[in-house]
Amino acid sequence: MAYRESQDHLTNTNYHSVGAEEYGGNYAEPKKGLSKWVKIGIPVGVVIVVAAVVGGIVGSRSSNKSSTSSSASNSGSTGEPNASEVASAKTAIGMFATTTNAHSVPIYPSTTNAAAFTEPTFIAKAGSNAALTWNADTFQPATPAPTTVRPDRPRLIAPAYKWEQLAAFVASDPYMKQWNDTIMADVNQWEGMDPVPYDIDGGLNKSGVLDVARSVKQRIKAFAYAYRVTGQTMWADRAWKELQNASGTGSQPFGTAPDNWNTQHFLDVAEFTAAFAIGYDWLYDVWTDQQKTTIRTAIINLGLNFGIQAYANNAGYGWWRTVNGNWNCVCNGGLTMGALAILGDDTSGVAEQILGYTIDNAKANCAMGPSSDGTWSETPNYWYFGTTAQAEMASSLLTATGSTYGLMTANPTFADTGLYHMYVYGNQQMFDYGDHGPNKFSTTANAMMFQASQFNKPEYMLFQRDRIDAAEPWSMFWYDPSVTGAFWNNMPLDHYFDDPLDVWASMRSSWTDVNGLFVAMKAGNHTGHQTHGDLDAGDFVIDALGVRWAGELGSGDYLSDGYFSSEATDSQRWLYYRTRTEGQNCLVVNHQNQNVNAATPSNFGSSNTAQGSSTVFEDPSDSTAFFTADLTATNNGAAIKRGIRLINGRKQVLLQDDITNVQQPMEWRMHTNATVTTSGASATLTLDGNTMQVQILDPPAGVVFGTAEAVRYADDPALPAGMTDQPNPGVTVLTIELPAGSYNLQVLFNPQWPDMQASDFKTPAMVAIDQWSLTSHN
Ligand SMILES: *[C@@H]1O[C@H](CO)[C@@H](O)[C@H](O)[C@H]1NC(C)=O
Ligand SMILES: *[C@@H]1O[C@H](CO)[C@@H](O)[C@H](O)[C@H]1NC(C)=O
Ligand SMILES: *[C@@H]1O[C@H](CO)[C@@H](O)[C@H](O)[C@H]1NC(C)=O
Ligand SMILES: *[C@@H]1O[C@H](CO)[C@@H](O)[C@H](O)[C@H]1NC(C)=O
Ligand SMILES: *[C@@H]1O[C@H](CO)[C@@H](O)[C@H](O)[C@H]1NC(C)=O
Ligand SMILES: *[C@@H]1O[C@H](CO)[C@@H](O)[C@H](O)[C@H]1NC(C)=O
Repeated sequence: MAYRESQDHLTNTNYHSVGAEEYGGNYAEPKKGLSKWVKIGIPVGVVIVVAAVVGGIVGSRSSNKSSTSSSASNSGSTGEPNASEVASAKTAIGMFATTTNAHSVPIYPSTTNAAAFTEPTFIAKAGSNAALTWNADTFQPATPAPTTVRPDRPRLIAPAYKWEQLAAFVASDPYMKQWNDTIMADVNQWEGMDPVPYDIDGGLNKSGVLDVARSVKQRIKAFAYAYRVTGQTMWADRAWKELQNASGTGSQPFGTAPDNWNTQHFLDVAEFTAAFAIGYDWLYDVWTDQQKTTIRTAIINLGLNFGIQAYANNAGYGWWRTVNGNWNCVCNGGLTMGALAILGDDTSGVAEQILGYTIDNAKANCAMGPSSDGTWSETPNYWYFGTTAQAEMASSLLTATGSTYGLMTANPTFADTGLYHMYVYGNQQMFDYGDHGPNKFSTTANAMMFQASQFNKPEYMLFQRDRIDAAEPWSMFWYDPSVTGAFWNNMPLDHYFDDPLDVWASMRSSWTDVNGLFVAMKAGNHTGHQTHGDLDAGDFVIDALGVRWAGELGSGDYLSDGYFSSEATDSQRWLYYRTRTEGQNCLVVNHQNQNVNAATPSNFGSSNTAQGSSTVFEDPSDSTAFFTADLTATNNGAAIKRGIRLINGRKQVLLQDDITNVQQPMEWRMHTNATVTTSGASATLTLDGNTMQVQILDPPAGVVFGTAEAVRYADDPALPAGMTDQPNPGVTVLTIELPAGSYNLQVLFNPQWPDMQASDFKTPAMVAIDQWSLTSHN
């Protein structure tokens, strides 16, 4: 069910929250329309505060145009604002963005208010008393140990001293108020629903009961939160209903004892264990001894004991112990939280025992999820699962025992994986290559907030707080209300992620213009991604005018035979359209998949343009960026180099393929939701009232645009018996059939910006990709 396709699970709301679709929407792409923030209603007061901003705001940007003619004024001071000016400007503005587009990209006001939109900083750390900030934790053990826990409860993530400050923060910080309101709206929605039913997705050894586990976790967190902030026992009672049900001790079965939480798909065990850990710990003072015993017994018998089997007895379902990816983070995270929650009450010793394994194992594996450039080596969507679980584990260890035991620093590039998330998110939506993962439910990007404090990167916190999925209990404890400034201030527009494993580049015209230009292209190895990648070297996306013009199709069906069999050349995975080279925005040689075992030497250049503090930003005319990759090896020796670059002050995009003596025919393919009209070497794409002109420059004889359906080639190898590709409704493939030979194929993308005349567009000269430089196309 829910795994397969966004369209499917968008309608599957029987036990989702108010916002589940939207949380899922970070990967699953909710229907076009208003974001959750708008739907649930922004508190009226917040809107008023934002509308009344002193200085700065010149009205919502309705077009991409950088309003250089704006009459916006500064805060009045000259030079750098001092800390108290920053603090009062911050208070005056409130939320920077009060709405987002359908993909959770914030819509920022046009403003030049330099006092607030300044260098990202934690004001408290900068020495000002002006902002509210968290008290210091008085639990500061001199020699922390994973089995020596703080004296008070809660232990996990949200210690008592933080709850004591919440009311003041909610009263003074518009973000925390909005998140608190959203959590309360969620619990009110879930209150009247049945407990999450035990609903197996495709088989216990397929997607199992992971959706069930994550939904239970999402609810337990929110119900426990609601009890603690309102004191109303109805919320603790409602949490109990959920816990009792999922413990398998209610009136009806919930799975089959003793494997109710499904070791065949260990993520399920881990997420249930985490859910029960939070319920046990946050509501500890409410539970009767008998309730505690029920919850604790479930944690031990349905969770931790199996963890011990995985570690001490090498049980097969513990294969995730050697995986550098989200599985390792989620499994170790859940087991760790379960153990920390019951330490002291557990007389079996299993809690202490499991902590002897999980921390070291997560340091050696989970922590290695990011490659050497910070890219999450699975996919941009799996980043969510890995970083959420890692942050939950590290934060739980820190609050419960006083240390993260090196989990944050075991891999130095873990500190850069937040940067990866920022750059992989386009102006319209994410560069969502590879598999998109299951429903997110309790998984969000709020690890950015924890990382921001841990790595002193306030820009991560500022980036995340304007996103839809910020509104859940973790942000109430990971957010630091003393954060100030604008994440985009001095943030370069481009970034090259240069690890050959997953080399890719991110390029954009603006950080704050939802209608701006965003281009990203990837190359890199097809192995080393935990069987979540596609055969997609040279794949790209383009956003402009608030529309995605060249996009991704998303995951294949996770329940399909062989979909996760391996990354080897003969893997059944590579039979499915959505993983094949033809299912990407790539050049396909002779209908063949790219070679799995190949390196893709790459190059990048950037004018290093950085946006200032203002959301009003005009790119200089010589501002540019490019990415190139040699795709010869992955095309089995067919000499093809591909390059993409921004030209004309980042208003146009040039995509070029240099083809040298290739012996077979080729096809250029680009997937789009747009309506396509072709005319020889020109194509007109229209989508949501916007237009993109695409042109083949100086085409080789007879080369023109065509269109095709987003389906497999008739001569592709057969799918496994009984399997089908998913349909790709609304998607057209823009194609160019290419002959064997030697030539340069230049395709120029001209978004029809509202205030640009035909004569403002440039036609670039032909420059061989090997000669590309920052000035080669001026
Ligand atoms: C900050 O600047 C304002 C005027 O621009 C001044 O009134 C105020 O005293 C300054 N505050 C500090 C703490 O320097
Ligand atoms: C969150 O909202 C609820 C419902 O309005 C309110 O009772 C509670 O006090 C708020 N929480 C905090 C910490 O202020
Ligand atoms: C998965 O479970 C089904 C049904 O119980 C079984 O037929 C199949 O062999 C199992 N597959 C694996 C790989 O264990
Ligand atoms: C759990 O909740 C579901 C859905 O309401 C219900 O069908 C089932 O009987 C409950 N199970 C237990 C053990 O109470
Ligand atoms: C089509 O639109 C959906 C929803 O916005 C998006 O997720 C998907 O990537 C788009 N597909 C293409 C090929 O651009
Ligand atoms: C990437 O692929 C190349 C060529 O197959 C190989 O030599 C290299 O080890 C791979 N790198 C990683 C990190 O897997």
